[in-house]
Amino acid sequence: MCGIFGYVTNKEDALGPILIAAAERLTYRGYDSVGAATINDGKIDLRKDTGKVDSVAAKYNIAEMRGQRGITQLRWATFGEPSQINSQPHLDSNGDMVGAHNGNVVNNVELREEFMAEGMTVRSQNDGETCVHAVERYIQRGYEFIDAIRLAYGDLQGDYAFVIGRANDDKLYAFKKGSGMVIGIGDGFTCLSSDLPSLLPLTREIIRPQDGEIVTLWADRVEVRSVKDGKIVAHKTETVTETMDAVQKGGYPHFMLKEIHEQPQVARELLHLLDGSPEVETLIEKMKKARHLYFIACGTSYHAAMIGSVYFAQLAGKPVIPVLAPQFIAQYAPAVGYEDVGIFVSQSGETKDVLNALEAGEKRGMACYGLANVIGSTLTKATSFCLPLCCGYEISVPATKTFTNQVITFLYLAYRMAGLDTKELEKIPELMEQTMETTSAQVEKIAGEINKWDDMYCLGYGATCSIALEGALKLKEITYAHCEGMLSTEFKHGPLSAVSKGFPIIFVAGPNDVPLIISGVNEVKVRGARTIVIAEDDSRLRSNADDVIVLPKSDASIAPLLGVLPLQMLSYHMSVMRGFDPDFPRNLSKTLTVD
Ligand code: AGP
Repeated sequence: MCGIFGYVTNKEDALGPILIAAAERLTYRGYDSVGAATINDGKIDLRKDTGKVDSVAAKYNIAEMRGQRGITQLRWATFGEPSQINSQPHLDSNGDMVGAHNGNVVNNVELREEFMAEGMTVRSQNDGETCVHAVERYIQRGYEFIDAIRLAYGDLQGDYAFVIGRANDDKLYAFKKGSGMVIGIGDGFTCLSSDLPSLLPLTREIIRPQDGEIVTLWADRVEVRSVKDGKIVAHKTETVTETMDAVQKGGYPHFMLKEIHEQPQVARELLHLLDGSPEVETLIEKMKKARHLYFIACGTSYHAAMIGSVYFAQLAGKPVIPVLAPQFIAQYAPAVGYEDVGIFVSQSGETKDVLNALEAGEKRGMACYGLANVIGSTLTKATSFCLPLCCGYEISVPATKTFTNQVITFLYLAYRMAGLDTKELEKIPELMEQTMETTSAQVEKIAGEINKWDDMYCLGYGATCSIALEGALKLKEITYAHCEGMLSTEFKHGPLSAVSKGFPIIFVAGPNDVPLIISGVNEVKVRGARTIVIAEDDSRLRSNADDVIVLPKSDASIAPLLGVLPLQMLSYHMSVMRGFDPDFPRNLSKTLTVD
């Protein structure tokens, strides 16, 4: 959600192509507007508009922009509609400074009013502009630049990262509060970005500033100071070893397809890591002793939390309350205490709803642990410890490999809690490979046959109920059709009236739930529905359903996990068949850092 990038060099350089390439690398975060600013010999050149990076770059000839310092920003609208004026970067009143941010400044409206009352020229409704004026305010009052930034930091409430430059100055300045920001040091240049992948093609030498620190970037060095007292803070430069391969499509037409196919490999790596992790034992002990145990998350991560709670009850006899993060605040946080344990689950580790719930739990003294994919994210730092999901970058907005690794983590923890041999779980990667091999062609064919429908249902029971919910979310997210996920037994309590001739209903059946699913299948089939069942081979299912997508034989706890793979593929194919880009569905963002 929004992304900033800044670049400082000591010679007048062709910055346009560098800024466009960096903006392209940030697109996976989701955006509706693009902007670039360069500073050259005391002059600021600013070009920005709504639209995709390539179209805005072509319309404003961003490639020709030159300078010693450059900023680019991708905006995902929160304050102010997507428009040219609300696009970032923004100028101060006189056009002497230019800056851009990602995240949200929550007192934006109040600050804008103050700035206007103080006589500043406020051009947009956007909170990125508010960040620029927050610095301008203290420059007007006669403060040195660094002090003006320190005071502005105090005025700007919310979670954001911000970069600013001045026309007559050879540096860029940046700070962060609650949002990610990474600094890169290259040969003859320095740079900064909202995330690491966008820096990797430029440099592997990085610094990770913390909240409450101001970074000054010269072409050949970087200085970090504390907001509190202005004193220099020492930071070690880290050498990053990851390759850019991780952020490229690796021969697949879309990141989503690549990430679906990466699932067996990342599952293998995760299982190795869990076997060797000393933190697993500690976590199990804490969970065993917990008065109440909560799995807290949003979206896809919540579906993993749901299935995790079924595993904990069925395998380890431990009741768990899975809960959507905002509802945790309202429903459980007022009643939790030191005896309770919360596991916060998030791919990004930056989901604001999850971080808010974490804060609410911590305030009450609850023991808080995490499960996250992005190492170094806020969740990984704010919890007592956080188990990594080991998936590498997940670029595609629809979560796939991070979901299956979340489910595997919960399954592994449930096995360990129950004292079961986790050797059984080592079969998972191969079973996933088999599932992909044996179901892909059939799933693509079915996708073509049901693609004309804009309404459908996905039903499951017990552990497969969460899988049905997840399949429905994937379908909604990238096909823009309505698909409702539901407990199969609930269908007769109302939604049954929606069934008409050919209406697609997908069932995900665990090996122990076949009789129940057969009832469900017949209930809708006699009313005209087209029934598609995802399950292990079973003659009873074959003789009742229109289609059976056959999963390889596995342990009853593993079967539901395999069931999500055909659903991911179904939604992928339907999205592509409809002409959509499954990687970047409209209106959505990979990382939701707002309330
Ligand atoms: C998944 O496909 C979605 N993009 C979305 O539901 C996501 O899972 C949710 O926003 C939570 O994100 P997180 O796991 O990064 O916290």
